[in-house]
Amino acid sequence: MKRLYKVAELPFIMCGIVGYVGAGTAAPILVRGLKRLEYRGYDSAGVATIAENVLLVEKDAGKVDELNAKLSLDRMPGNIGIAHTRWATHGAPSKVNAHPHTDCTRTVAVVHNGVLENFLQLRKELIDLNHNIVSKTDTEVVPHLIEDFMKRGMGFEEAFVNTVRRLEGSYALAAICLREPDLIMVARKEAPLIIGVGDGFNMIASDMTALIEMTNQMVFLHDGDAAAVRANGYKVFRVADGQIVERPVKTVALTVEMAEKQGHPHFMLKEIFEQPNSLRDALRTQREYVDLLAELLDKGRVVFLLGAGTSYNACLAGSYLFSAVARIPSYPVIASEFVANYGGAVGADTVILAVSQSGETADVLNALDFARMRACTILGLTNTVGSTLTRVSRAYVLQNSGPEIGVAATKTFTSQVLVLAQIALRLSRLRGKISQFEMDEFGHELSKIPKLVEEVLLTAPAKVKELAETLVNSPFLLILGRGMSVSTAYEGRLKVMELSYIPCIAYPSGESKHGPISVIEEKIPVIFVAPPDEFRKQNISSIMEMKARGAKIIVFGDKEDEELRSLADHYIGLPKTHPLLSPIIYTVPFQLLAYYLAVLKGYDPDKPRNLAKSVTVL
Ligand code: G6P
Repeated sequence: MKRLYKVAELPFIMCGIVGYVGAGTAAPILVRGLKRLEYRGYDSAGVATIAENVLLVEKDAGKVDELNAKLSLDRMPGNIGIAHTRWATHGAPSKVNAHPHTDCTRTVAVVHNGVLENFLQLRKELIDLNHNIVSKTDTEVVPHLIEDFMKRGMGFEEAFVNTVRRLEGSYALAAICLREPDLIMVARKEAPLIIGVGDGFNMIASDMTALIEMTNQMVFLHDGDAAAVRANGYKVFRVADGQIVERPVKTVALTVEMAEKQGHPHFMLKEIFEQPNSLRDALRTQREYVDLLAELLDKGRVVFLLGAGTSYNACLAGSYLFSAVARIPSYPVIASEFVANYGGAVGADTVILAVSQSGETADVLNALDFARMRACTILGLTNTVGSTLTRVSRAYVLQNSGPEIGVAATKTFTSQVLVLAQIALRLSRLRGKISQFEMDEFGHELSKIPKLVEEVLLTAPAKVKELAETLVNSPFLLILGRGMSVSTAYEGRLKVMELSYIPCIAYPSGESKHGPISVIEEKIPVIFVAPPDEFRKQNISSIMEMKARGAKIIVFGDKEDEELRSLADHYIGLPKTHPLLSPIIYTVPFQLLAYYLAVLKGYDPDKPRNLAKSVTVL
């Protein structure tokens, strides 16, 4: 199937936005759009319309159908409106935090998808100017900024553009204003935004699914674009200099189901391809909270990193990072083993950083219940605002990955590791254990990660698919790595095993001589995770050991390492990064391998058998 987007376009949607202006009544169309956006699982929703010179806003936490029954969203009057389904990134799901957000005078309503990095600073400025900010969201600064610019004499369009120029972070924004009741202003940066062109109406949305029922004529805005959308036309221009730009109208011939996956055949592949942008948003983790976590971790005598499944593998990577970057020893621990293994030895001087995408995994919460009774300090890293983990944690950080539908974790793993790396760096700065130069270098390498993953997604898929074709009938697979790459090997094993049902084992390669090597015979596939780190020589020795026994050698290594390439039957060349960040880059080909193996074997990669996305039983 033709993919709809190139990697460079990388649509990444956290919240869902839809807007309508035209001859019809907006609300029923918006509510149908919201229903279409809900397939990803959201926590709150809202609609704003303008009718008879009044801005009407209805919103709350809950599912669209429930809210519609309660608030009669689809009966709101008006020919213009914007609506939103929310996946919380700042502030728990609640009425006050739901979008649309309004200004003090209730003249402007705004919906937003993305993460604003500088909202705390903007919020402070606005409070100093006596604005009444009521929610905990990053978005609410936007209508107040627009209000402020309008107070200074600007029209709605000019005020909107000036507001957007002040924003740092990612956004797809839509705003309406009482003063111009036939105009929707929109802008985008690193979050998708589409204009749906209709006959006698125009729409905007973050996702084609919200438009497809009304029109198949779509204009895909680029980063840095803004648009003024009216019933009878629209203009697109650049935010930076106001220059008008032409964006072609494309005819989209997709079913709703295909549109939900943005042209990818499965959610898992879509989520793998979202990683450059989900990683960008992971780098936008609120600095204050990362600092707070670092301070609390620094106070512990004993530190545990606790998780289940993929999140445990992220903990493993985290423990290498904490040691190498921050010089803090930590125990990575599988949540269900925590009480039996360490329960007798924890107390008030113990700090536990629990990593859980959902924030609801029963094994994790059970371990934390025990730890709380022993007065341990609980910290959290999660993708889900308002989850139980956020409630039981003394402090938590959000990974900002957006909803993940594929049962197998992909983008949430790479983001967890990236956030753990940021925590390690903050800890390191606090403790001053490595040189300023090393810290700066590490920080610089962190910022390059999204681009490198983009490169992997441009270059690796075809080669990984070829590799999958050679492995599809393998009875089993051995995966080896050393140092930091042990976590990559473990996560690679989990992905391949849970999706292809091929039994896999993963070992630190130094251990292979103590057992796993006995299973090697002619043509047994062994994947070496071999980034260009201090273990290169040992990796080569392990490869030779396996080669001597007839194994089929597959290497994930540096794209420029010709010697390593010459030793392998299959070589997947990957870009260079800081060795401690290699799990983020080197896990991606495993995700792709697992995906292609599942598809080749006729299994559904989105729903592996016997597994659930969130396991809430012990
Ligand atoms: C389940 C999922 C895994 C996930 C694990 C932990 O087993 O199938 O993909 O890694 O739970 O989930 P959490 O939400 O705690 O990260």
